[in-house]
Amino acid sequence: MIKQVQLYNDQLDFEDNKKTGPFGDFANNSQPYVNSGEPQYDFFGVPVYSPFGIAAGPLPTTQFIQAALDKGFDIVTLKSVRTDTFPLNPFPQVRPVSVTGDLKPSTNPTITVAKQYSEPLAVANSFGIPSVTPAEWQPFMKASLAAPKKGQAVLVAFQGTAHGKGKEDFVQDHVDGIRLIRQTGANIVEINLSCPNEGESVLACFDTDITERIVKAVRQDNPDLKFMIKLAYFADKDQLKDLVKRVGPHLDGISAINTVPATVVNDDGSETFPGRPMAGVSGAPIKWAGLEMTRSLCEFRKEFGYDFKVVSMGGVMNAADFNEYREAGADIVMSVSGAMWKPELAAEVKASLQN
Ligand SMILES: Cc1cc2nc3c(=O)[nH]c(=O)nc-3n(C[C@H](O)[C@H](O)[C@H](O)COP(=O)(O)O)c2cc1C
Repeated sequence: MIKQVQLYNDQLDFEDNKKTGPFGDFANNSQPYVNSGEPQYDFFGVPVYSPFGIAAGPLPTTQFIQAALDKGFDIVTLKSVRTDTFPLNPFPQVRPVSVTGDLKPSTNPTITVAKQYSEPLAVANSFGIPSVTPAEWQPFMKASLAAPKKGQAVLVAFQGTAHGKGKEDFVQDHVDGIRLIRQTGANIVEINLSCPNEGESVLACFDTDITERIVKAVRQDNPDLKFMIKLAYFADKDQLKDLVKRVGPHLDGISAINTVPATVVNDDGSETFPGRPMAGVSGAPIKWAGLEMTRSLCEFRKEFGYDFKVVSMGGVMNAADFNEYREAGADIVMSVSGAMWKPELAAEVKASLQN
């Protein structure tokens, strides 16, 4: 039975979550997970106890970051920030959904909201990736970077802003954003190119030219930065291959996948997220897509002789899912939906690593 409020309370606005969260078992850190021995895995130069963590999204403040580290998640990602303020989509922002089997983006799916979170867990979210100003996020980014104990790491995430900007300015926005992030001392960064609200008509990662320009511009400005880009699910494998060929030599990692877009409705057919018919779906129904992307990225990496790390996510709900991703070739595995509703997931994964 899944406890309905864990980490994030979907009955509250995102802003209230930030102010009063984390919730559920994550709010109780009286018995933090204790790692022992020496960290055996590598996360972009940081030794970590497990190649497992929480991907961008549900950890928007240092309190959330600390709570996730205390539960034994060894790689935790601070929610994506931008070069300037960006509005939050109105409440609601997170809902359980009911999906039978795999969610296939090619079918332009319409799915129905569920009464509660239950297994197999499926979640829809529509935040719009809001941001406060750099003057506001830099202090809590700095504090979050200081939170990990030995064998743990914090990843920071950046979201470029395309709205109202030409392509040149969109590229520059990434260069500026990474400079602002580096002022906090961060040197491992994920650039999200798979947000449905950016990249004008298509996701930025589906525009190979703009992706290549962003990657090269950020690399030129930051020869020593460890950085990866985050991709959506690519149905077109030739397009993915061409992208990997062009950006692979300049990157330290590629992460995938982001949520899969779907139309989300209430039982009566009305919009679940008023004014936003589409939302991003995560959890068990997208695991097939994350695994497929993992295999393709590993295959293309090998074919081109590159050495970027493959950081995989999508539907990791238990240790078996984690191991399936590792067997598919993932260097690092992340979870969001599974981790949000299952605080014991890190401990479960680590127990499986010791077997
Ligand atoms: C509540 C929620 C918030 C998210 N916010 C972000 C975000 O700010 N930036 C981002 O790159 N991805 C975001 N994501 C996508 C996740 O990082 C991840 O790619 C996706 O949920 C698939 O993993 P999962 O099936 O384990 O949830 C979010 C996902 C959820 C469920």
